[in-house]
Amino acid sequence: MVHATARRAQNEELLAYKSLEDEVLTRRIQAVRDALGPQLLILGHHYQRDEVIALSDLRGDSYKLSEMAAASTECRAIAFCGVHFMAETADILANRPERLAERGGQRVPVILPDMSAGCSMADMAEVDEVEDCWEQLSGVIDTRDLMPVTYVNSAASLKAFCGRRGGIVCTSANARPVLEWSFAQRRRVLFFPDQHLGRNTALRMGVPAEQMPVWDPRADELGGNPREAIASSRVILWKGHCSVHQVFLPEHVEGFRQRLPEIRILVHPECMREVVDMADQIGSTGTIIRAVRESPPGTKWAIGTELHLVNRLKREHPEQEIHFLAPLVCMCATMFRIDLAHLCWSLEKLAAGTPVNVVRVGDEIAADALVALRRMLEVK
Ligand code: 13P
Ligand code: SF4
Repeated sequence: MVHATARRAQNEELLAYKSLEDEVLTRRIQAVRDALGPQLLILGHHYQRDEVIALSDLRGDSYKLSEMAAASTECRAIAFCGVHFMAETADILANRPERLAERGGQRVPVILPDMSAGCSMADMAEVDEVEDCWEQLSGVIDTRDLMPVTYVNSAASLKAFCGRRGGIVCTSANARPVLEWSFAQRRRVLFFPDQHLGRNTALRMGVPAEQMPVWDPRADELGGNPREAIASSRVILWKGHCSVHQVFLPEHVEGFRQRLPEIRILVHPECMREVVDMADQIGSTGTIIRAVRESPPGTKWAIGTELHLVNRLKREHPEQEIHFLAPLVCMCATMFRIDLAHLCWSLEKLAAGTPVNVVRVGDEIAADALVALRRMLEVK
């Protein structure tokens, strides 16, 4: 916890960085990178601003970034240009027991340049609510036959909840194999916090929508469901969503199909079912990038995911015609919090030996969350 006085001092320091030109900030960030060399690893999620992506050593979707954090051996510090749950995951993986032992107990600090870069979807499931849900479900179904699956967009405490109950983590890149793994062991799944990823994936595996009740943590009883709906369920979906992806609507798809009949609709599985059902291709941010990269010149796309990624694809692929699926501007405001000023400030603090914004998951939660993360990394 940062004390209020320290927070004020930090804010003042940041103001000074914010007054600097991008060119100056870039030069100073580059100077820290040159000084620290391979000891510093800057990871950037695809939704980051271009100027931040340009300074990242590696970029990826959530799955790829977890793999990179798990594989890193040389680095002694990670600057995570993404959101809080991603930095937590990197902390757990980069500081897992075998890595700590190799480094003689030395931790790799994981720095989130702006601590207010959270994820509104991750905030839609609190561990107390999920524990209460589990307890209530145990009054209706046998929870020994229920697999808890948390989307990686969740707090470490929820990953730990899954780790303790034989459960697992998934990302948007591996949700299907993770659900297959789950159904190979148990009859039912409790999927949180994103109802859309859970529903879209399970529907494609043949689970009927009627067997996927939605659990509303604010409802008085059984998440707002009759007992029979829980008793006959295969996948219980948490009532969470991504505010960025919910802006894409079926009428946007229809509009494009009317104007450009040859258009290919490419969307992230966090979009609502009605949109995903109409799409030509569905995938994580990494899959979206690959789909565009592997298509012939002249392909026309309407893409339903965060604006920065779509705009970058437009710039990187002038040989294709790329449109943003919604008529509105919709970007992830929390991803956008990571800017050059925060990155420069946090890196210079690190280089000076006074790191700030270190994301550190408590040992007990980290150990249990690691169990669920390892299961995910082993699922192919
Ligand atoms: P990816 O799994 O595609 O990286 O998506 C993460 C995310 O937060 C999407 O909203
Ligand atoms: Fe969270 Fe949505 Fe932003 Fe992804 S795009 S980090 S799910 S709020």
